[in-house]
Amino acid sequence: MEQWREQAVEKAAAPKKSGALVTGASSGIGEAISRMLCEQGYQVYGIGRDFSRQKPMPAEFRPICCDVTDADALCRAVGQIRKEAAIEVLVNNAGCGYYGLHEELNAAKIKAMVRTNLEAPLVLSSLLLRDLKRTEGYIINICSVTARAFNPHGCAYGATKAGLLSFSQSLFEEARKYGVKVVSILPDMTATELYRNADFAADGEPRARLEPMEVAEAVRFAISRRDGMVCTELALKPQLHRIARKKIKKCKNM
Ligand SMILES: NC(=O)c1ccc[n+]([C@@H]2O[C@H](COP(=O)([O-])OP(=O)(O)OC[C@H]3O[C@@H](n4cnc5c(N)ncnc54)[C@H](OP(=O)(O)O)[C@@H]3O)[C@@H](O)[C@H]2O)c1
Repeated sequence: MEQWREQAVEKAAAPKKSGALVTGASSGIGEAISRMLCEQGYQVYGIGRDFSRQKPMPAEFRPICCDVTDADALCRAVGQIRKEAAIEVLVNNAGCGYYGLHEELNAAKIKAMVRTNLEAPLVLSSLLLRDLKRTEGYIINICSVTARAFNPHGCAYGATKAGLLSFSQSLFEEARKYGVKVVSILPDMTATELYRNADFAADGEPRARLEPMEVAEAVRFAISRRDGMVCTELALKPQLHRIARKKIKKCKNM
């Protein structure tokens, strides 16, 4: 067994609290989900790289600085959390997006998307699956409507989300008999900073965009179903299909 897996799978002390682990908790959708889970009574461990711009969070929120693309750091963080809490909810939310013609994406950006959006959820799910079988808990994967669409100018991003959706569906079939629930949330354009690298953003018109808290509400809905009924997939779309174009300088090999 690889060293990174051994370290995190090693037996932890008896867990004390109902824990939730949320990646990408420092902003946007992950921050909203973290707030909602704190309100629901979970001790929330939020992973991100930079919490400096975050508004004050509830006392149940514990920020953990960690790059999810660093598997060793992720294992160490999970090992620490497992000593304190029984993880009942894992939310794989951290993500990044680079858009444009595929020939204009460089390898570093493709790698960042694959590792953040797909590899990290696979690694974290593997690390925590035994705990989640014990707690009969939830894995919530924040996919995207792009997982089911053709995505010109977002081929690689959409591919990572389609991969995450496929993983969710298979993992549920593998783990459902142990009580584990795997839920895919597929949001459309949401008003966050995700499009910082794009020449478009969510439209200002409220009927053409989702708010992060609406995605958090979908997660709340999924984790509050009666025992024995699993909501495996939720697609969320604004009423209007519209995006706002930004005027940005185009660079070669973006
Ligand atoms: N906004 C939308 O329209 C939309 C639609 C569908 C799906 N989604 C998905 O929703 C998820 C959340 O995105 P968002 O819209 O809330 O955008 P966001 O505000 O940019 O949030 C992304 C989060 O991921 C974290 N993150 C990124 N790379 C990381 C890394 N290597 N290690 C640790 N944390 C990392 C960021 O934290 P740090 O910068 O602190 O590391 C941040 O907290 C993503 O998976 C995205 O694909 C968004």
